[in-house]
Amino acid sequence: MTTTATDLAYLARVLKAPRISSCAGRLAEQARDGGWTHEEYLAAVLSQEVTSREASGASIRIRAAGFGTVKSLEDFNFEHQLGAKRDVIAHLATSSYLLDARNVVLLGPPGTGKTHLAIGLGVKAAHAGHRVLFASATEWVTRLQAAHQAGRLAAELTRLRRYPLLIVDEVGYIPFEQDAANLFFQLVSSRYEHASIILTSNLPFARWGDVFGDHAVASAMIDRIIHHADVLTLKGHSYRLKDTKLTLPSERAENKAH
Ligand SMILES: Nc1ncnc2c1ncn2[C@@H]1O[C@H](COP(=O)(O)OP(=O)(O)O)[C@@H](O)[C@H]1O
Ligand SMILES: [Mg+2]
Repeated sequence: MTTTATDLAYLARVLKAPRISSCAGRLAEQARDGGWTHEEYLAAVLSQEVTSREASGASIRIRAAGFGTVKSLEDFNFEHQLGAKRDVIAHLATSSYLLDARNVVLLGPPGTGKTHLAIGLGVKAAHAGHRVLFASATEWVTRLQAAHQAGRLAAELTRLRRYPLLIVDEVGYIPFEQDAANLFFQLVSSRYEHASIILTSNLPFARWGDVFGDHAVASAMIDRIIHHADVLTLKGHSYRLKDTKLTLPSERAENKAH
């Protein structure tokens, strides 16, 4: 190694910017060949470091979000799901709704891609620098119950508000007891006009009263959720069964939710 390369390796280590030392030599050759100015060379080196930091920040946020299976919007087949307009999803993918604490609600029968889109949007948010947490509605309630029992519900809601995006998957699969419904209502209220939620549900809003066991609580909650929200209603048959001739009980006429 030349003295300069050794110096650079040392300086990059002190700056905790390892990409600088790994790309400085290669970019210097390109700079000499291409006749770059000193400023252009410096910008190229620094931007390598910034890009790699952003990428590792995003992957840390994606791991911390608890998605289970990571899904991407790029893998979503829009031809198969006409309820999700490509341009609407493309706009949501910019994550600008998070800056206005707007919500996204994905409704539709099982297997229509609600969880896939919710996770895909969560991944975009993580790439845009936002912290995200994903869990099912039942898991959220369990967490809030634990906080409540430990006498730190308010602190937990405050902590969660530091996350610009919470994803609440599968509202409606399991009905809530009254205390669970109240805790869920508190979660929604605490985020109202402060921070975003993406919710998925197999039930239309008209049936949420049954989930929360109380039409007044359900109405007050829906009101807060949809005041500033994009509501997407997905349609069709389950993607999971697309290559079979099976139908789900929920798709049969007598059991249609909407
Ligand atoms: N339009 C689609 N394009 C690609 N994959 C899809 C699409 N819709 C659903 N899937 C896939 O089918 C499975 C079921 O979708 P999921 O999002 O879990 O449905 P839901 O949450 O509505 O029940 C997942 O593996 C998902 O990735
Ligand atoms: Mg789902």
